[in-house]
Amino acid sequence: MRIPDSKIEEIRQTANIVDLISEVVPLKRRGKNYIGLCPFHTEKTPSFTVSDEKQIYHCFGCHNGGNVFKFFMEYHKISFIEAVQELAQRLGIDLEFEGEQSSEKQSEQELLYDINTEAAKYFSNILLHDDEGEIARNYFQKRKIKTQTMRVFGLGYSISGWEHFLNFAKEKNIDLEKAENLGLIGRASDGRLHDKYSGRIIFPIFSPNGRVVGFAGRVIDERDKGAKYINSPENLIYNKSRILYGLSFSKDEIRRLDKAIIVEGYMDLISLYQAGIKNVVAVSGTALTEEQVQLLSRYTKNAVLLFDADTAGEKASMRSIELLLKRDFDVKIVSLPRGEDPDSFVNNYGKERFDELIIYAQNFLEYQTAYYESLGMFNDPSKMAEAVRELVKPIALIGDELKRTILIKTIAKKFNLREKLLESELANALVKAEKQIISEAKIRERDSEKTEKKIEESLELNGTSTLYNLEKEIIKLLYEGNGEINKMIMENLEIDEFYILAHRKLAEIVYEAALNNEDLKVSSLLEKIEDESLSQYVLEITFDKYSISKNWEKLNPTLKTEASLIKYTGDVIVNYKMQKIDLLIKNNLKKIEEAESEEESLALMRQNQMLEIEKRNIRKFIQTKNI
Ligand code: CTP
Ligand code: MN
Repeated sequence: MRIPDSKIEEIRQTANIVDLISEVVPLKRRGKNYIGLCPFHTEKTPSFTVSDEKQIYHCFGCHNGGNVFKFFMEYHKISFIEAVQELAQRLGIDLEFEGEQSSEKQSEQELLYDINTEAAKYFSNILLHDDEGEIARNYFQKRKIKTQTMRVFGLGYSISGWEHFLNFAKEKNIDLEKAENLGLIGRASDGRLHDKYSGRIIFPIFSPNGRVVGFAGRVIDERDKGAKYINSPENLIYNKSRILYGLSFSKDEIRRLDKAIIVEGYMDLISLYQAGIKNVVAVSGTALTEEQVQLLSRYTKNAVLLFDADTAGEKASMRSIELLLKRDFDVKIVSLPRGEDPDSFVNNYGKERFDELIIYAQNFLEYQTAYYESLGMFNDPSKMAEAVRELVKPIALIGDELKRTILIKTIAKKFNLREKLLESELANALVKAEKQIISEAKIRERDSEKTEKKIEESLELNGTSTLYNLEKEIIKLLYEGNGEINKMIMENLEIDEFYILAHRKLAEIVYEAALNNEDLKVSSLLEKIEDESLSQYVLEITFDKYSISKNWEKLNPTLKTEASLIKYTGDVIVNYKMQKIDLLIKNNLKKIEEAESEEESLALMRQNQMLEIEKRNIRKFIQTKNI
């Protein structure tokens, strides 16, 4: 279901974050805000803060924060859509009624879902009841799949031949072109239509909410020509990299146990589930993707990787580990005995042995160590250095410093290495990881040359510099949700003028929302910030007691009107511009001292004269504008 933006807005406006959070966290009033003990980490003195005025929350201890939707997602460990639904229900807002918002695209999606549902029912009926389904029933029996399990997962069979499903589709008046787009029907070069999954057993693929988005079909006889599995092509409702097979069945158990087992295949997932191991998802065919990791992170941050014991499986594990670590997952790995996959293992050895495997899963470091050991890298001193470097690399992806330290100690102990050596190796890896983040950001920028210069400049500034603080203050003012103030900043500062990349990105979000006449309240703007660390930053400065309010109160000890805030904004902008020019002038003076020719120093002096004129102009301009 797609929920119209207007509904989400309506919920945001109706919900009161203080009331809703008070239901689960006792809050006390402190000035304009409310404080309490943070529900997301253990603490004795309250650092969890809720703003009634701004409808946001933030914890200064663990840095969790956001708007009312984010709180529900985090507190109840649910997805955004689920949070919206839960809140809508509480507030008596009807989500079913979509009115004018229901677009053509939406109804197109509905039609595709309907066709898939019809098809899934058709295939399932054949497997369960049709004479022609016997061959598939025998197959599943051989693979120890019970009828009840076939029902749960909606498994099916597509009768061998060219037009069984095609005829069914015609009978049911299914739009054949759409069925073709969904990959249920194929078209030969002479234009004739035919069944796509003919003679295959069928695994419907469900969205996290349990709707049929696609299918996988497996050959029954391994000797059959053609791929072992065929999958739905990507289409409006099926995006392979965003689907985790089985999640709609396993999400509750994953949440309950706060752990997800990740397997490769459809049959692995089904067999484990049937054996009572229900906190499983399958990546099915692809390497684990970033989107899949993000999807899973809504339900848990603990993953156990259970890939086949072949080299492809090992490689997949290494890549997956990095993706998971980047998203703050705690990662464990189980190596299965050679020749087994999870499906065969649980069928051969039973649930108890399987549970033991999970309990004794290696942490990723042990796993990787064993992997490099198996490549013989520890026998050769020159290769050993490389192996250690490789081991340290993923540790740099972990955000938590304490965790990093513990892992470094573990490696040092294991290989009898000096911790200092590993620490400097880690420092290198950290710098590399940081550089990678910066360069990724750079690629995203259109004007990369300019950006590079700005980043260099911004790196020279340290956190305490006046310029940095003034710029931060401007960002804070932009996120005050005051249209008048935003207009003033936007008229006087171009996006490009922000020195610090993070500030520029944050300004861009507000500028764009203002141009589109969108809501400028911080609780709405937060949703537009994709980067978690940036939204954290906004929350920190929004709740920061020490900048704006302090300066502003000093400026206007009694008068806290909008007019005084606007005056303050003007002061900040002027100050900021002046500071920037002063910095340039100072730089030039330094260059003049080092200049090698008279010509060069003259040019620099002229530049400084121009800059002085610019300063005067700013003062004049501000005076006439009366800010
Ligand atoms: N896969 C695929 N297309 C293929 C082969 C494999 O999409 N041609 C995906 C499927 O999701 C499959 C997974 O990769 O479940 C793992 O493949 P494999 O280990 O070959 O199959 P199993 O899952 O073990 O299937 P089975 O037990 O039925 O042989
Ligand atoms: Mn298998």
